[in-house]
Amino acid sequence: MNKKELAGVEAANYVKDGMKVGLGTGSTVYYTIVELGRRVAAGLRIVGIPTSAATEALAKELHIPLTTFQACPRLDLTIDGADAVTPDFQLIKGGGGALLREKLVAAASDQLLIVVDDGKLYDSFANLSIPIEVVPFAWETTAQRIANLGGKWTLREREGVPFVTDNHNYILDTVFDSVADPGRLQDVLKAITGVVETGLFINMADAVIVGRADSVETLSR
Ligand code: A5P
Repeated sequence: MNKKELAGVEAANYVKDGMKVGLGTGSTVYYTIVELGRRVAAGLRIVGIPTSAATEALAKELHIPLTTFQACPRLDLTIDGADAVTPDFQLIKGGGGALLREKLVAAASDQLLIVVDDGKLYDSFANLSIPIEVVPFAWETTAQRIANLGGKWTLREREGVPFVTDNHNYILDTVFDSVADPGRLQDVLKAITGVVETGLFINMADAVIVGRADSVETLSR
């Protein structure tokens, strides 16, 4: 198994019969979802809420039963990937563009379990790309306010046109020379008109499963 697969499959062991589960997005949690599909086929009873259209399609293909927040306002556990994790479990997410739904689902969950390979472990978020989801209308003015805070942004594009999220917004991938206090940065960015959400997940993760070359390690608070 590769590092992502090691972490992803290990996470499936935390899903117990009867649980309501948030299903994350990305190439690491993909392995969790595939493993959950196998276990559901073998009799595991769970319901899931997907964090993206892509994950919804994957879960349906694997016959994992899905539910809605109307039917199920709280979840037991969400399993998701991350782009960067610090030793105190702060996260950058949104490399795949699903950060808003990922944060909504994580916020509705009793536990957030993160699955990463060991290349995602960092001491700080300085010089790392932080995705910021913004309203398309007047996005240039939102970007200017982010630049005024020292953020060097790039409008995410796909095939030469702006990338559009599942929620019909744009993403500014933004680098700061220094991120001394990620929680403060999150608060300041969220206060900007036009910012919908950021990829900074502050004090949300409860445990991190790290896939290494030949082993898997679970870090918990
Ligand atoms: C999706 O928007 C992201 O938050 C992903 O969860 C994150 O980018 C990790 O993805 P990978 O597991 O593919 O690296």
